[in-house]
Amino acid sequence: MPTNRRSFLRNVALGSGAIASALPDNSYAHAMQSAQAPFNMCGFAAPKLSTVRIGLVGTGSRGTGAIDRLSYIDGVQITALCDKYPKHLEKSQAILNKKGLPAPKTYTGEEGWKALCESNDVDLVYVTTPWHLHTPISVYAMKHGKHAASEVPAAKTIDECWELVETSEKTRQHMMMLENCCYDFFELLTLNMARNGMFGEILHAEGAYIHDLGKDYLLNKTGYSDMWRLKENTGHQGNLYPTHGLGPIAQCMNINRGDKFDHLVSMSTSDFTLAPALKELAANDDFFKPYAGKTYRGNMNTTIIKTDLGKTLMVQHDVSSPRPYSRIHLVSGTKGAAQKYPGPERIALGHSWMKPEELKGMYDKYTPPIVRHIGDIAKNVGGHGGMDFIMDWRLIDCLRNGLPLDQDVYDAASWSSIMPLSEASAINRSKTVDVPDFTRGAWKQNKPHDMTLNGGGTTGVRAVLK
Ligand SMILES: NC(=O)c1ccc[n+]([C@@H]2O[C@H](COP(=O)([O-])OP(=O)(O)OC[C@H]3O[C@@H](n4cnc5c(N)ncnc54)[C@H](O)[C@@H]3O)[C@@H](O)[C@H]2O)c1
Repeated sequence: MPTNRRSFLRNVALGSGAIASALPDNSYAHAMQSAQAPFNMCGFAAPKLSTVRIGLVGTGSRGTGAIDRLSYIDGVQITALCDKYPKHLEKSQAILNKKGLPAPKTYTGEEGWKALCESNDVDLVYVTTPWHLHTPISVYAMKHGKHAASEVPAAKTIDECWELVETSEKTRQHMMMLENCCYDFFELLTLNMARNGMFGEILHAEGAYIHDLGKDYLLNKTGYSDMWRLKENTGHQGNLYPTHGLGPIAQCMNINRGDKFDHLVSMSTSDFTLAPALKELAANDDFFKPYAGKTYRGNMNTTIIKTDLGKTLMVQHDVSSPRPYSRIHLVSGTKGAAQKYPGPERIALGHSWMKPEELKGMYDKYTPPIVRHIGDIAKNVGGHGGMDFIMDWRLIDCLRNGLPLDQDVYDAASWSSIMPLSEASAINRSKTVDVPDFTRGAWKQNKPHDMTLNGGGTTGVRAVLK
């Protein structure tokens, strides 16, 4: 194909104002449809629920962990469980049984989650399935009068992001993406320091999900269900899992609440490990034959996002190179900086990182109320060192006290949108891609979430068997 024809096609796909055609779906149609003043879910408080009746969908490894954590929280009743495979329900049922908690109703089959969402004994649908079901289940739940909490990413396409936003606004049901890394201890410390102006104006931040999932996960035929993780890594490029690194730094930079993502550029390496590993596995095991000879996501993706206020965020994703785990978590401002990976955790308010005693002083002064209140208990219950339990406890405490949630549907949509948008850029020679404004202008007035525990903090933790 002549160069000018190729570049013409690329320009049609990615030229200013025409980006929609490069995206896997038509985000602009949604933006236009939604032009007339929608209800703003930022700061939205739903009526109090004294008991939160939870229906959980997807009792695999993450879902079973969630059942265990949720069973410790006062005012929680797990009334329903659903999994495609009846066998996968057993571990969660055994956990509840061992703790002397009532047996939930169970639903099975590919679409069993529909009946769970339609039932009258669920207030919150908690979604821990493979990614392609996060939006369909969340949307169906909200349309049937339930709040939705979904594992990350909340959506896989720009259309799905808009569907979440529009459904949450129309139904006035919460849609929270369960971005647990926002509740890790150092991330909460840096957020509170940022809110207190300790870093000055934050002008740049970095986050990542760098986790070698190769042998134990992606390529492990018994490690998870239906090889869904590996399948997600075929036929896609870009950052498939942006929110663990992005969520905490987006909160530090008041994204959707004073600033917003404007545009991004993204670049991926080629794949140097997955295709060769699958070729080798397929040579000895027929199970892997369908996965051999396919194109896999490039190992490392780097995406840079520019905000409306002229700040930058760099997000990386690599789950297939052998290297130590990192979420980076770097925050850099006009007065100071913080960094978590590689350890130890570091803060600087000048040229040098603080000495351990100075860092301790920061912890003494800026550990936020939620960590003082529930941090030690969370470490005991567990879940990635406690952050998962802080998240669950806070979600339930907000629902029980009629408080806005820390992460709203706009956060879920904009953080998740980096998945399809990074792909659109990475496969088009890193062309600039606009990030939709899911708040439709409300980011200018929306306020950062309340870190005080005011009006809440009343939910206890049960002494149930570990
Ligand atoms: N936030 C975190 O730290 C974290 C950690 C691990 C996993 N996750 C997320 O949790 C989710 C689940 O991951 P996992 O590791 O538990 O995977 P998994 O394969 O162990 O579990 C998924 C479960 O969903 C079930 N399922 C599949 N299709 C279904 C359907 N149609 N209806 C009902 N159930 C269905 C499967 O049978 C399986 O039991 C993913 O979105 C993953 O990204 C998040």
